[in-house]
Amino acid sequence: MGKKTNDKMDRLVSLCKRRGYIFPSSEIYGGLNSCWDYGPLGSELKRNIKTFWWESMTNRRDDVEGLDAAILMHPEVWKTSGHVAEFTDPLVDCKTCKARFRADDLQNTGRCPVCGNETLTTPRQFNLMFKTFMGPLEDDSAVVFLRPETAQGIYVNFLNVKNSSRQKIPFGIAQIGKAFRNEITPGNFIFRTREFEQMEMQYFIHPSEDDKWFEYWRQERWNWYLELGINTEKLRWHEHGPDDLAHYAKKACDIEYEFPFGWKELEGVHNRTDFDLSRHQEATGKDLRYIDERFEEKFVPYIIETSAGCDRTLLTVLVDAYDEDPSRGDKSTVLRLSPKIAPIKVAVFPLVKKDGMPEIAEKIYHDLKKKFKVFYDTGGSVGRRYARMDEAGCPFCITVDGQTKEDDTVTVRDRDSMEQTRHKIAELTDFLAKRIR
Ligand code: GAP
Repeated sequence: MGKKTNDKMDRLVSLCKRRGYIFPSSEIYGGLNSCWDYGPLGSELKRNIKTFWWESMTNRRDDVEGLDAAILMHPEVWKTSGHVAEFTDPLVDCKTCKARFRADDLQNTGRCPVCGNETLTTPRQFNLMFKTFMGPLEDDSAVVFLRPETAQGIYVNFLNVKNSSRQKIPFGIAQIGKAFRNEITPGNFIFRTREFEQMEMQYFIHPSEDDKWFEYWRQERWNWYLELGINTEKLRWHEHGPDDLAHYAKKACDIEYEFPFGWKELEGVHNRTDFDLSRHQEATGKDLRYIDERFEEKFVPYIIETSAGCDRTLLTVLVDAYDEDPSRGDKSTVLRLSPKIAPIKVAVFPLVKKDGMPEIAEKIYHDLKKKFKVFYDTGGSVGRRYARMDEAGCPFCITVDGQTKEDDTVTVRDRDSMEQTRHKIAELTDFLAKRIR
């Protein structure tokens, strides 16, 4: 990683701490490698991203149902799904400096990239699933896994959801939830962690229509990132070749984003065929076939999966929104977050703490709070208050000033253009609602 890219990430990490987006986990104990906590603004941003995903993938559609399955599942699920046997990474240790690598990250030089010695072990397969025990006995019969993907919770509920919702194929099931992977090399802030959240959707289709639905979901998911306000030039597709396809996939394409540390996967769209349902059918003896009136046959549905990381999306929106604008003086950092997901939508300030301005500002604050996440601030000069809100990504700042008492108007300052326009207090809710949704 070059110094410049490092610097940008360092500055973003420090902004996240300063403004309450993201903190190191258990920081007062020295932190825990690759674990992070979302602070007041971070948790709000994360919730807004999840709500936007949920609304796009379920509420705005008729053909996708929601699910919230348990993290702990019957351990046989993970044998059937192939994760016990195949969800592994090749692990290499350096016997000299004890550094640890994924073999596929090494350049095949036979040398340790940290100490330069030719003392690397031969690769051994390392299973990425976290194990724990259910109940008081810590023996093999009590082993359960923390799910490494949310998808399996959807597959084992295919019949339950289909029967209770009376959906007909093609239809999907969407879920947001935690997943856990004992990654060998976590890092790059919240990009790769051992505990993370996924936003996954499984779309059940007739096998003859897999190419059509694969293309459809590719397009939908691409458009979702554009709606989120991500810069198109920083997005691209990467299609997996036969050697890097996951064990369940016939075809896989990733949406990648250009992070300061390079182009990296943001979301995968996968054709999982009937791999998962067929295996669960075989293991349980339950008939997971579907009778299709159109095709007059019984078949195991194919699945098109869209699998996004919530934390990775959050990192993407932060990196994409982060800007240093010298025209704003030394307090030059601006988070140009889409108003749709910005944690604070609007800030309200009295210009000074006298002449009846705080009373008017407080009333505006309480009225707007019924609709939006609003922040009230009286501390320091208005310039400093704008700068704090720019760094927090707040798109609009309202200031009550001397003119307010005369004509019931306030200024609204736009974070990105820094333009200030005057508006009637009575029209503020409508003005903001149009710009925030
Ligand atoms: N169900 C399919 C599946 O899990 P994946 O490509 O392994 O596919 C999907 O993961 C998404 O989950 C990734 O594109 C990424 O956004 C997120 N993800 C995976 N591993 C992650 C990790 N260790 N830390 C953060 N996000 C991760």
